[in-house]
Amino acid sequence: MIVTTAQLFKIAYGRYAIGAYNINNAEQAMGLFRGCVQSKAPFIIQISKGARKYTDKRMLEAIIRAASEIFPEAVFAVHLDHGDEETCYDCIKSGFYSSVMIDASHDPFEKNIEITKRVVDAAHAKGISVEAELGMLGGVEEDIKVEEGNACLTDPAQAEEFVKKTGCDSLACAIGTSHGAFKFKGRQSLHFDVLEKIKARLPGFPLVMHGSSSVPKEEVDRINKAGGAIKDSMGVDVKEYLPAAKLGVTKVNIDTDGRLVWTRVHREFFRDKPGEFDFRPPGKVFMDEYTKFIATRNELLGSAGQLDEVRSKLKK
Ligand code: G3H
Ligand code: 13P
Ligand code: ZN
Repeated sequence: MIVTTAQLFKIAYGRYAIGAYNINNAEQAMGLFRGCVQSKAPFIIQISKGARKYTDKRMLEAIIRAASEIFPEAVFAVHLDHGDEETCYDCIKSGFYSSVMIDASHDPFEKNIEITKRVVDAAHAKGISVEAELGMLGGVEEDIKVEEGNACLTDPAQAEEFVKKTGCDSLACAIGTSHGAFKFKGRQSLHFDVLEKIKARLPGFPLVMHGSSSVPKEEVDRINKAGGAIKDSMGVDVKEYLPAAKLGVTKVNIDTDGRLVWTRVHREFFRDKPGEFDFRPPGKVFMDEYTKFIATRNELLGSAGQLDEVRSKLKK
């Protein structure tokens, strides 16, 4: 069942975080739905601009509709990840999305407000909620690369002003994470001090953590042992998901970790079976492994086991 992102946020706020997982194809969708149903967790499906272009945006929508029929117990929202203004309007018009993200974080503060406000007005007219971003994460996201030196944490005072002026429904804050597999050099913590200050200025307001993959060392080691060359990778400490959730982080975005599962499964499969050329056997292994991965992430986010409560609160 597709619900609104706002409904999920209202139920989860301050208690646990909802996993927001990117999908690009049917195998990811199967693993995601299965993992969330098995762990009894509400979830958010994220579709990036790149995912919409990979096959066709209608293909992804059809996959999600089909998955929703195959898994009638699933409760989820559909969200545009890192949209530009034009893509936001396209998604708002389509009627399929529960929420959109307008990412104008690379623009100056005032311009970010201007663009975000336009999208908020268009989205709210259709009952769709809007995630905006303030501050700048490092790393690569689609066509934009932010060097570490240019990444900057969200300023709490600006966050308050930004939310008041734009009317956005949730805010992606830069609290030390970055996109991709190369987040930190050595173990590092989230900037809980910044989070606390943002929460004090915006009590009850849902915050979003991008770049939340943990980049498990064992996963990277297995990939490298099977012919990969992923070096110096380090992600978010999964033990910090729940403390962040208690400080208002209600949506935790995870994409890279899922890609690592895919890469590990396929590299190991073809290394061990060099004569194989059918994509279905490794595809099946991937769906099973992704199912397990999603379920364990939901446990760490605190969203596992929440489905019955979510369903009963949605009825009220
Ligand atoms: O933040 C970006 C997400 O990981 C989506 O990645 O734009 O390559 O689909 P993508
Ligand atoms: P990761 O690259 O850490 O998975 O972050 C994904 C993300 O923020 C999607 O918007
Ligand atoms: Zn992101």
